Amino acid sequence: MTRPLNDWNPDSWRARPITQSPTWPDTEHLARVERELAKKPPLVFAGEARRLQEHLGLVAGGKAILLQAGDCAESFDDGSADAIRDKLKVILQMAVALTYAAGVPVIKVGRIAGQFAKPRSDAFEERDGLTLDSFRGHIVNGDDFNAESRRPDPERLLAAYHQSVATLNLLRAFTTGGFAALSRVHAWNQEFVANSLEGKRYSMVADEIERALQFMKACGIDLHDDSSLQGVDFYTSHEALILPYEEALTRRDSLTGDWYDCSAHMLWIGDRTHQLDGAHVEFMRGVSNPLGLKVGPSMGADELRRLVDALNPENVPGRLTLIARMGHELVVEKLTPLVEVLRDEQRHVLWTCDPMHGNTFVASGGQKTRRFDDILSETSQFFAVHQALGTWPGGLHVELTGDDVTECLGGGSQLNEGDLELNYTSICDPRLNATQSLDLAFHVAEFLQSYKAASGARSL
Ligand code: PEP
Ligand code: CO
Repeated sequence: MTRPLNDWNPDSWRARPITQSPTWPDTEHLARVERELAKKPPLVFAGEARRLQEHLGLVAGGKAILLQAGDCAESFDDGSADAIRDKLKVILQMAVALTYAAGVPVIKVGRIAGQFAKPRSDAFEERDGLTLDSFRGHIVNGDDFNAESRRPDPERLLAAYHQSVATLNLLRAFTTGGFAALSRVHAWNQEFVANSLEGKRYSMVADEIERALQFMKACGIDLHDDSSLQGVDFYTSHEALILPYEEALTRRDSLTGDWYDCSAHMLWIGDRTHQLDGAHVEFMRGVSNPLGLKVGPSMGADELRRLVDALNPENVPGRLTLIARMGHELVVEKLTPLVEVLRDEQRHVLWTCDPMHGNTFVASGGQKTRRFDDILSETSQFFAVHQALGTWPGGLHVELTGDDVTECLGGGSQLNEGDLELNYTSICDPRLNATQSLDLAFHVAEFLQSYKAASGARSL
């Protein structure tokens, strides 16, 4: 647990330089909305965030893995129950494959119920001579390209809060009400194995899981009754980008006196907002939630060390997740020295791999896309780096959807650039579809098994 800091307040970020902040046309309106949000109930409770931090502490110690996944940007136009269910379904399926392969618990965290804000490389977008604010996620403005839609509107903070409430409510029902039962998730994986080309490769893993379940049954464990097999812990997370929103949902925990940002269990700092003296680092260092920090190829070892000092001064395992997003061409070169430095200084951080954000490019048709093979390649090199250094490859951070979208290239169904226009629905970055996500998870399951075999051999 982190102690409350004397030199910190939920609004101390306001005295710091801020990047990626929208220019709100009516600041009085924004202030009114902030006051309204500050009176709303918290979305999550401090105790839940603490429990997640304990689970992440297990990951930091090499005793569990983190799977963090969901949309690049959630949309106000698509908060349907079916979309949420299908996203959860694919994350649970991935988790079962990983649990089996790693033989350790998989901590499941969605980029969901609050992932509405986007950092942008350019503050403005120009089309046919018209220049407007860039789209910054539905919590700020609309994605349609016209002046009305692109104007930042504080009412959207309230809409984001309400959609997060509804999403979280459904997630809580799904994860405790039988939908997430192990036998059911395993049956979905068997369907994937039986009915898709890419699934066939994994029939052995699926058969092994089936045998393990049969064995449990034979031992008298009732798969439909044992409560630990009926539900799952599922946590929420998002990039804490729009600080007026995050501040308004930050509350002091009555049990411990610590501050928690109750908009989600876990919050992360993006690759563009990690300035040591900037507003985002200032805000995040004072909340007691488990934190993520994106680590891109421009991050040097000294800068990282200082950020780790600021965000996890007491070296608490599980407090800080470093989300490496280097790109498949740079990952070995850039990641190795960073992991090495923190390992040598015995910093308790956990490393996960975001193989999405360093591998984005624009296809000839103008759509942003990513190649499945690049994603896989970055992931496998991430494992290799950790294997070489004797550190734990803590997990995976991916952008996915349960829908049958055509946004990333390749994968078993060999989507090509011509297919991108068939069903491209992301309002921001390209996501893996359900099949590509499962394909990736089964590959990662294989990486985990070889990591375990190699480190087992090393320790003999
Ligand atoms: C993201 O996770 O959607 C994102 C914008 O990532 P990054 O900050 O790593 O670019
Ligand atoms: Co993204």
